[in-house]
Amino acid sequence: MSLANRDLITIDDFSNQEIEAVLSLADEMAGSIRKQSGLCQGMVMASLFFEPSTRTRLSFEAAMNRLGGRVISVVEMSNTSLAKGESIADMARVVGSYADIIVIRHPWEGAAQVVADYAEVPVINAGDGGHEHPTQTLCDLYTLKKERQTLEGLKIALWGDLKYGRTVHSLAYALARFGADIHFRPSPGLELPEHVVRKLTTEYSGMLERYNGSEDMKIEGLFPLDAVYITPSGPHQLANIPAVGIQIEMEKGVDALYVTRLQKERIEAGAGGDELYYPVVDKKLLREKRFEETIVMHPLPRVDELAYEIDADPRSMYFKQAQRGVPIRMALIALLLGAKQAAVPEGKRPSRVIKKAYTVYKRSTGLLCLNKNCVSRQETETRYIKPRFQIVSKNPLTLRCVYCEHEIHPRYIASSKWHQGIVERKRYYSADSSMLRRIQPENLIIFDSEDIAQARGFKPAKKAFRGKAKKR
Ligand code: NCD
Repeated sequence: MSLANRDLITIDDFSNQEIEAVLSLADEMAGSIRKQSGLCQGMVMASLFFEPSTRTRLSFEAAMNRLGGRVISVVEMSNTSLAKGESIADMARVVGSYADIIVIRHPWEGAAQVVADYAEVPVINAGDGGHEHPTQTLCDLYTLKKERQTLEGLKIALWGDLKYGRTVHSLAYALARFGADIHFRPSPGLELPEHVVRKLTTEYSGMLERYNGSEDMKIEGLFPLDAVYITPSGPHQLANIPAVGIQIEMEKGVDALYVTRLQKERIEAGAGGDELYYPVVDKKLLREKRFEETIVMHPLPRVDELAYEIDADPRSMYFKQAQRGVPIRMALIALLLGAKQAAVPEGKRPSRVIKKAYTVYKRSTGLLCLNKNCVSRQETETRYIKPRFQIVSKNPLTLRCVYCEHEIHPRYIASSKWHQGIVERKRYYSADSSMLRRIQPENLIIFDSEDIAQARGFKPAKKAFRGKAKKR
């Protein structure tokens, strides 16, 4: 199986088998890191880091050097023509003509997707704002597999800033796909974003049970339990676990505690952040019986959330996770450059795309992504990016931005078919009316406000305007 010329923008760009192939090649390379220098000779990797980074950038660059390739790099936006007002698309076209592969980290959600859309070479997302960080997930999965042999049936607690922490978004999707159970323990106010919850509950086969506000789920020294995600391969179905059962589940502990830093840089752009409850993982916590067998993971950098006193504890995995970034990225680069083929486990057919195929809404009817940090909202990029959305649900009408995946819920719809040039027949309807089901996707017109609909010559429909979709 070849992964040559593929992009890795979200973890869902790779099937489970493709992820396993990367992990197994990384494992092979980890044993002979100094013997791989013939693989990518003559190739160039562009390393574009427009946000601070130590591990990710240096491990990518070390990986390409270990493979015998060369690296060209940018570490600050102010040193590039982006500072002169150049668009990401133009930069991508040009850099793609200098290098054989591009690695990009950027503060805007969806920026890596734009680079992939415009560069002719493989593109790897090394973190795009608060959206995703798929290569960190590869390092995390590799560590879990090394320490626990399997991912299926593991119980992982995601801990801390689940709202802005991009590593936890990619990791949650991957854990769900590989059949692990997830305990979400966010700092109050920093819960998993709605669009991540929707993906977990509608695109993967597990179930999510929320425990919001449930006082008995708050235990001293821990973040409160917000939700539990259980995959069908897990030992239980949620329906069988009432709150008391969950409490007992909690007492049994988890296989891994995945701790994250408060993403201050992104919170400042949003709201709050000053008086957050943020307990520290320290010796005292790890002495609890339920954590006896729990490994502690963290993508790093740490600030105050992990006490230095636990570094020597054999359960602490964070430096190993970072160290494993080099063979993981060596394997990934070698595969995307076609210098290696991916090994498919015996008897398994390679499955390519795991992304669900939704209808994409592309009409220019004034819809905008509401996420101000989305690449589609930036002044330099609106010159060429037309907002596009996947229609992920019709009840209620829910559109997902193709760049940052945030969702919008527009309120009015119309059909391009019915008016057939006769102005009198141009009607718009409420998005929750039964008309939504009757309009063919290719004819669907969506508006965010009545003003916009009327400005385009549509009149409110008398019938079926506010009526709810009829239940069948
Ligand atoms: C993470 C990131 O950049 O998202 N760091 C990393 O790449 N290892 C986590 C973080 O910055 O908190």
